[in-house]
Amino acid sequence: MNIRPRRNRKNAAIRDMVQETHLGVEHLIYPVFLKDGKNIKEEIPSLPNIHRWSIDLLLSEIEDCLKLGIKIFDIFPAVDDQLKDKTATLSYNPDNFYLNAIREIKNRFPEAVLMSDVALDPYSSDGHDGLVENGKIVNDKTLPILAKMSVAQAEAGIDIIGPSDMMDGRVGVIRAALDEHGFSETSIMSYTAKYASSFYGPFRDALNSTPKSGDKKTYQMNPANKMEAIIEAGLDIEEGADMIMVKPALCYLDVIHLLKEHYPTPVTAYNVSGEYAMVHAASKNGWLDYNAAVYEMLLSIRRAGAEGILTYFAKDFAQMIRS
Ligand code: PBG
Repeated sequence: MNIRPRRNRKNAAIRDMVQETHLGVEHLIYPVFLKDGKNIKEEIPSLPNIHRWSIDLLLSEIEDCLKLGIKIFDIFPAVDDQLKDKTATLSYNPDNFYLNAIREIKNRFPEAVLMSDVALDPYSSDGHDGLVENGKIVNDKTLPILAKMSVAQAEAGIDIIGPSDMMDGRVGVIRAALDEHGFSETSIMSYTAKYASSFYGPFRDALNSTPKSGDKKTYQMNPANKMEAIIEAGLDIEEGADMIMVKPALCYLDVIHLLKEHYPTPVTAYNVSGEYAMVHAASKNGWLDYNAAVYEMLLSIRRAGAEGILTYFAKDFAQMIRS
């Protein structure tokens, strides 16, 4: 045999030298849940070790993470049901608890990079990402709400706006509104290929944001489709997205790879709540080695072509590579 691939695997030094893909904490974005109030650290049963924090405690959690090298955080608001309405009014009220918390975090830790989520669902009494009229999710009337929400977030200090709503044309409308209000430096990471997935369950538990009726299939993509991701990405890039995201990550590694090959724009992936919950459930039963599974999953998302990964594993991974 002239060629024996095993020679390049014969010891750790050689394996390390020929390793093609690398994974570090600099690739990770940590999603965290914020709740109004004080001294709150609430468990989310379907998301083990992830909590809903009030701002006072979230500040120390962020401080811990910064020490571990995590620099980018995606902050999601868990809104009281009584404050939700059809048009998600709370989302752009400059004095809401979420925007006040963003100001506090940026004030205390100017080095922390903060990302937001732009969609109606955390604030909507219908639990949909867009405005609901006669049982339909209406596209164009949703856009000005998304634009107002984005400008309010940029004003509070958000560095990266994350439209997750999947309305057509939203990136362009948000980009124009940001620029018009003097936020030309605020980035947009658009949820470009966001699929109507069964893996968002634990996240909806965290925010109590399950749709009150119907499902999200008229705006989120059909899991059977891949070429459609190219259309979505083309539009988002043309409309001004700085980074394009694929979500979920693990069942859609082919889509990550496709967009990476097709466009020069940085690609990110959201390793979603259901993907996190599965690993926890299996490791709790002793069926998987938690650390090894986490590393392999995150590495595979990088190998598929994602520059950045939004993942609930971020803190565990950062601790893991320390020890
Ligand atoms: C809402 C949003 C969702 C997630 C991020 N933003 C849920 C949904 O679309 O229903 C899911 C994240 C996760 O499951 O971890 N716009």
